Amino acid sequence: MQEYILKNDDFLVSQTDEKGTILFANDDFCKIAGYKLDELIGKPHNIVRHSDMPRAAFKDLWDTVKEGKVWNGYVKNKTKDGGHYWVYATVYPMYNEVMRQKTYMSCRRKPSKEEIEAAQQLYKTLR
Ligand SMILES: Cc1cc2nc3c(=O)[nH]c(=O)nc-3n(C[C@H](O)[C@H](O)[C@H](O)COP(=O)(O)O)c2cc1C
Repeated sequence: MQEYILKNDDFLVSQTDEKGTILFANDDFCKIAGYKLDELIGKPHNIVRHSDMPRAAFKDLWDTVKEGKVWNGYVKNKTKDGGHYWVYATVYPMYNEVMRQKTYMSCRRKPSKEEIEAAQQLYKTLR
């Protein structure tokens, strides 16, 4: 299946509630994942999960942000049409004062070819 290689200035942002339900996604996220914004809002974030991603990576992500810390890692996501793309993601917890709600934000940029290869090797050893 087709791989979309991020451009240097692609910057994909999404925000979830405490359960991982999508509250917001920016234009780059929608465009690259292949969805319209209203197809993403209210959906679980695993809508873009690729089956090659080990569960351990997402457990580490959730354990980290629930502790109030920042998680960094490489993620392979699937697109709506069955393709995929790799990102280097930074995920962090936020508090929305107005809504009195804890949320999580992920900002993603292009990983290098070497970084993708290293992540691929590592993820083969994880479940
Ligand atoms: C802010 C935020 C962004 C996330 N971004 C992604 C993502 O881009 N791709 C992905 O597969 N999971 C992402 N997740 C993790 C998903 O919520 C989910 O845990 C993961 O897709 C595994 O699915 P599962 O928990 O149903 O097994 C994100 C979680 C948070 C809190």
